[in-house]
Amino acid sequence: MNFAHTGVAIVGSANMDIVFSVDRAPSPGETVLAATASLYPGGKGLNQAVASVRSGAETVFVGAIGNDSHGETLAGVITADGIDGSLLRRVADPTGQAFIVVDGHGENTIIVASGANGTVVELSPQERAAIAASAVLLMQLELPIRTVIEAAEVAAAAGTTVMLNAAPAQSLPAELFSLIDYLIVNEHEACLIAGDDDVEVASLALAAVVGRLIVTLGSAGSALYDGGAIVEQVTAFVVTPVDTTGAGDTFCGAFAAAIAEGGQFIAAAEFATAAAALSVQTLGAVPSVPQRSETLQLAATRPLTIAGAVHPTQ
Ligand code: RIB
Repeated sequence: MNFAHTGVAIVGSANMDIVFSVDRAPSPGETVLAATASLYPGGKGLNQAVASVRSGAETVFVGAIGNDSHGETLAGVITADGIDGSLLRRVADPTGQAFIVVDGHGENTIIVASGANGTVVELSPQERAAIAASAVLLMQLELPIRTVIEAAEVAAAAGTTVMLNAAPAQSLPAELFSLIDYLIVNEHEACLIAGDDDVEVASLALAAVVGRLIVTLGSAGSALYDGGAIVEQVTAFVVTPVDTTGAGDTFCGAFAAAIAEGGQFIAAAEFATAAAALSVQTLGAVPSVPQRSETLQLAATRPLTIAGAVHPTQ
């Protein structure tokens, strides 16, 4: 375990993704044939942990898998990628599963059966210590919300930077907002959480209640807010997507790694944008997450807004 105040702690989900590739997703009552059906490691938490460690950060994962073959596969990913899995829980419930349909444009629809992820309802002393020892805590919303709040409280008390990727979106308790240093959402999540259909109005409302806000906008890049106001619009790289599954997770994990390394807000978002652009070019969530060197190579093809936030050459 990592006892220095460094690196990234991920408190989140791990799923086995069952991915069907189709020309177009079926309408209600319709059957379509898939070109392929494949299993890939996934789950927003695990995807973000892989993105963090492949981006160069020491990364510890707090989450749960079942005592089944899917769990074994996911545990193998954690080990193979060099993520600290010493706190990984093995429980009687089945490993989480995600049913994913990827259409001919690379767009996806996802249904998650939480399984083991739902059992993480309270943090152990060791898990709390790992969060407090990390530079950044990164979470999503595929674990019970009370665990998310507990982890954020532990981090805030320890001076660990709190990041929440509020996906899948749900209304958030007011007590959580004040604990968040960085909130990362896409435009749909921003609107749903803020309760406003206008993304700019929703974004400003969220920016007013958290430290900093990133709203990812797909091919339109992302909008960065600080102190309640927009401070930068980061443009996306032009790519042809094969599968967008896990692109948001790659963004979050790479961003967390860059911030843990001491990166500036805008440059860290640019690094994360490059990582996400690479991730959509391969099928599957975990398999598509790029290594740090690949991300730096793409990021170097255009100037950073603030140079030197992520060391540019290795
Ligand atoms: O964000 C993509 C992830 O969402 C998939 O890997 C799936 O497991 C779900 O958690």
